[in-house]
Amino acid sequence: MDILIPVLLAYLLGSIPSALWIGKIFYNTDVRTKGSGNLGATNTFRVLGSTAGLIVTILDILKGTAATLIPLFIATDIHPLLLGLIAVVGHMYPVFAKFKGGKAVATSGGILLGYQWPLFLVAVAVLLIGLKITKMVSLSSMILAVVAVIYAIIYAVNTGDYPFLAVILVLASFIFYRHRANIARIRTGTEPKIKW
Ligand code: G3P
Repeated sequence: MDILIPVLLAYLLGSIPSALWIGKIFYNTDVRTKGSGNLGATNTFRVLGSTAGLIVTILDILKGTAATLIPLFIATDIHPLLLGLIAVVGHMYPVFAKFKGGKAVATSGGILLGYQWPLFLVAVAVLLIGLKITKMVSLSSMILAVVAVIYAIIYAVNTGDYPFLAVILVLASFIFYRHRANIARIRTGTEPKIKW
């Protein structure tokens, strides 16, 4: 079984710093120096506007999706969800951006898209409802992480898909860990809100 190449490929895919490269190539802007400084879709929307934000969202989602699809192209016994998880690690700690990357949300969504696409649509709906209510992307992302964990527990108990539960638990932990600064701002009422 080939382990090294799929793992490396998943990490490198996740490492592609879409926000950084789109910003630098098309807007001559390093999004790390503006807004929240995060290399993610939200900060790209904030700093560069909706076209760039949408492109980065799609690219960051597709990194997770592509990683889960690696076993279709390279013979490996590694679970697709594990490859998706490795892509998320690449997204958070990208080799192409000094290991300072994003907050795991979009790329985690991409894993759902690759593994069970209807779940991805549900996740988008939960995120949008959260956004409508809280107006905060960070808080909505963490609410989504909690909803996903609850769903995965129920799903695993009924289907025996415990690898899915394990991966969702790790992804949710990543999301909360990477939003530490946001949590602090939410507590002090200083987290930026979107106009929606
Ligand atoms: O996906 C990241 C988002 O939840 C928060 O991003 O830039 O507001 O810290 P940001």
